[in-house]
Amino acid sequence: MSIECLQISKAYKNKSLFKDLNIAFEKGICNCITGENGSGKTTLLKIVAGLEKADFGNVRVKGTCTYSGSNPYMLRGTVMENILYPLTLKRQGQQSDLKKVQAMIAQLGLDGLEHREAHSLSSGEKQKVALGRALVWNPDILLLDEPTANIDVETIERIEHILLEYVKDPEHTLLLVSHDLEQARRLSGETWVLKTQGLSKVNPKVL
Ligand SMILES: Nc1ncnc2c1ncn2[C@@H]1O[C@H](COP(=O)(O)OP(=O)(O)OP(=O)(O)O)[C@@H](O)[C@H]1O
Ligand SMILES: [Mg+2]
Repeated sequence: MSIECLQISKAYKNKSLFKDLNIAFEKGICNCITGENGSGKTTLLKIVAGLEKADFGNVRVKGTCTYSGSNPYMLRGTVMENILYPLTLKRQGQQSDLKKVQAMIAQLGLDGLEHREAHSLSSGEKQKVALGRALVWNPDILLLDEPTANIDVETIERIEHILLEYVKDPEHTLLLVSHDLEQARRLSGETWVLKTQGLSKVNPKVL
């Protein structure tokens, strides 16, 4: 297991989102979380990412971890510079970095936008850039909050293909929040519904 949530609880003011939540997410598959608006999916993902604190309990995360939210932040600079940024932090060889970024741009269908200011992009285009920026780092754990919510049908196919390739590596763990149960079915991993009682496993084929 690379992500383990041990007895975690979270409440905002008087609203309890989840209590004593125990869950371990498997490597090498897509772990999909769905649930009603406001049920706490984003909060749970942020707790796993270390961006929010649980009120009680612990989260164990083994390996490098990248989180991409549903309203992604664009860094100043071009699309290319945004996607390249994590690799400059890793200080890899410039030439191979550029090749990786170009391949990611092509995979996500962002060709032609390489030199556009990232701030000037549409929300769907920004979401693609954020996904590219998360993937190019090749983290052990990828946390994605509704990554295809604003995305056109053709690109959803491309992204799902990329995610399926990502989890082919048995050391990779994908935790994905999505309202799209057809998507959960296509990614064919494990699917949970988040409710105040906790996470319950569901079969998206029969929902
Ligand atoms: N910082 C905060 N302060 C107070 N309440 C918050 C805060 N963050 C989230 N909440 C509340 O906690 C609840 C869960 O929010 P969260 O964003 O985790 O839900 P969600 O399941 O991701 O919903 P959606 O499907 O709409 O994205 C909501 O009622 C929200 O208003
Ligand atoms: Mg959310």
